Amino acid sequence: MTELNKISLNILSNGKGILAADESTTTMTKRLESVNIKSNEESRLNFRKILFSSEGMKSCIGGVILYDETIKQSSGSKKIPELINGSGAIAGIKVDTGAKVLAGSSKEKITEGLDGLRERLKEYYKLGARFTKWRGVYSISDDYPSKLAVYSNAHALARYAALVQESEMVPIVEPEVLMDGEHSAKVCFEKTSEVIKKCFDELILHKIDLTGIILKPNMILDGADAKKKISNEEIAELTLKCLKECVPNEVPGIAFLSGGQNEIEATENLNLISKKNTTNMIMTYSYGRALQQSALKHWSKNIKDTVGTQKVFNHRAKMCSLAAQGKWSKELEIQN
Ligand code: G3H
Repeated sequence: MTELNKISLNILSNGKGILAADESTTTMTKRLESVNIKSNEESRLNFRKILFSSEGMKSCIGGVILYDETIKQSSGSKKIPELINGSGAIAGIKVDTGAKVLAGSSKEKITEGLDGLRERLKEYYKLGARFTKWRGVYSISDDYPSKLAVYSNAHALARYAALVQESEMVPIVEPEVLMDGEHSAKVCFEKTSEVIKKCFDELILHKIDLTGIILKPNMILDGADAKKKISNEEIAELTLKCLKECVPNEVPGIAFLSGGQNEIEATENLNLISKKNTTNMIMTYSYGRALQQSALKHWSKNIKDTVGTQKVFNHRAKMCSLAAQGKWSKELEIQN
């Protein structure tokens, strides 16, 4: 077993998943302002350190993805990565610099951040990061994602992954096909399959050790504005079919993004996926909103209520962890 494979498995095994707390300052500001909290360095840190020091971290969170600002912050005398390590989790870092307009297909995006990445990775490693994240983003329409967007994002993801493995860290490869639109789940299935296949073509071309990555895909869903919706069972079946057909066996695990699903949807769908999973790959979560939303709402009502906020977060983390093991039920949501 390689060191990178060990890191991937440590993050994903035993019903653990990833807390995606890597919102850029702009996104975090939107999240905080949506609950009437002023966003500044202190408030962003305060909310995040409440999550990182909660009890639920110990049994449910194997890795935390941080943003550049947070990985350099401290909680009292402890650096944030140390605080995370203290609960048995591994610190990770988002290293892309965001999705920009793709020249040649101006309505689509290409993720940037390769310039100077090798040097930034060295710095993040010293700060305690052992895994990283890069998100490629694709939209669905009759014409999109275009071949150009599918290829150029896959190429960037593979170049990123090669640099990260060279720096002895595990790359999370995140090709996110957005749920915006009226398209059917069938179309989402086709487009997501094309996107993931192209990513692996490029990862293989760039000689990536596939046992030392984590794939972070979307689930196969109807578009958010689709008139008809498939059932949760069908979501799980189509998602597994897509992953079985497109992901090489060596990949140790999949950590889904929540991508705008509400907390319960994201939990219920993961639970069914895990129950029906017959592959060797671990299926778990790398949720941002679906792990943090309720805790943020609770905190915004009384920012001094650390214990209450942690209770809300612990519950959500526990539900996600049960879902990753196929042991979640609606009754368990209500009992708590
Ligand atoms: O890149 C996306 C985030 O890491 C996951 O966020 O679960 O809110 O979609 P989400």
